[in-house]
Amino acid sequence: MIKNLNNIASDTNKFLNFYIKKQSKTELVRSMKYGLLPGGKKIRSKILLDVGKIFNLNYSSLIKIGAAVECIHAYSLIHDDLPCMDNDSIRRGKLSTHKKFGESTAVLAGNSLLTLAFEILSDRSLLLKEKTKNKLINLISKCSGHTGIAGGQYLDLSYEKKKIQKSKIVEMQIKKTGKLFAFCCMAPALIANEKINVVRFFENIGYEIGLLFQITDDLIDYKGISKKAGKKTKKDKKKGKATLISLLGYKNTIKYNIKIKNNILNKIDYYGKKSENLKKTILFIFEREK
Ligand code: IPE
Ligand code: IPE
Ligand code: MG
Ligand code: MG
Ligand code: MG
Repeated sequence: MIKNLNNIASDTNKFLNFYIKKQSKTELVRSMKYGLLPGGKKIRSKILLDVGKIFNLNYSSLIKIGAAVECIHAYSLIHDDLPCMDNDSIRRGKLSTHKKFGESTAVLAGNSLLTLAFEILSDRSLLLKEKTKNKLINLISKCSGHTGIAGGQYLDLSYEKKKIQKSKIVEMQIKKTGKLFAFCCMAPALIANEKINVVRFFENIGYEIGLLFQITDDLIDYKGISKKAGKKTKKDKKKGKATLISLLGYKNTIKYNIKIKNNILNKIDYYGKKSENLKKTILFIFEREK
């Protein structure tokens, strides 16, 4: 485990617990917390903080923004596991949310987590300029909807049991996974008021990190151990998922992934010592077993 990942996960969970506690208590809270808090790596928050370090940004604001990202991520996982999507019964080492609470509750908990993200980002307690908050909300919306996660998930499902060309697979993976990572890489540059070329640089880094993350996830599904991964493995093949592994084979996919990793490391080298944490996180993403 890389240094600080556990601390970031626990600070993110503390903030989310505190935030939800302040709201009116409803029947959906239990299922929302179940899908949101325990077991997740909170790797997206970690990326946000690592890029934030490059721009010397404030830790507690980034934890709040990361918490919003994790809400959207958790929503996407709850829905991803539903019978109408990947139909998975285990997530983060326990029953997936619909298995525990039923399908309709899982759908509604997912919806509520998605909107909770916007509540957190627009909250007065997030100490950023209104204009900056607006930019962040606009960006995270684009990364989550039909041009982002939802659009990518649509492609993932519609490509099942079909032979899909490499560029299309990459495009699908960048949408379903890369867009949220791109948000995490761009948000610190936006907060620091960096020029557009810097924001674009981090947008592209985010896409590549997302791709690295998703390909590693596909490799874990292919060869990984369920107990370690916290979810059933060897399922993508059964479902006929279009992945780089199904197209190029396991070994070639590993080679491709190594290239992506090295490419990212080379690019962020530009930031020297300030990018050290980010580099370690990239290596963690590449080597992880869960
Ligand atoms: C799993 O994401 C879904 C993918 C995008 C591959 P994570 O591996 O980040 O899931 P948690 O949050 O740690 O459970
Ligand atoms: C999920 O990809 C990507 C999302 C945006 C939710 P997968 O379907 O491969 O994720 P796992 O393997 O179920 O975690
Ligand atoms: Mg899926
Ligand atoms: Mg899935
Ligand atoms: Mg997977």
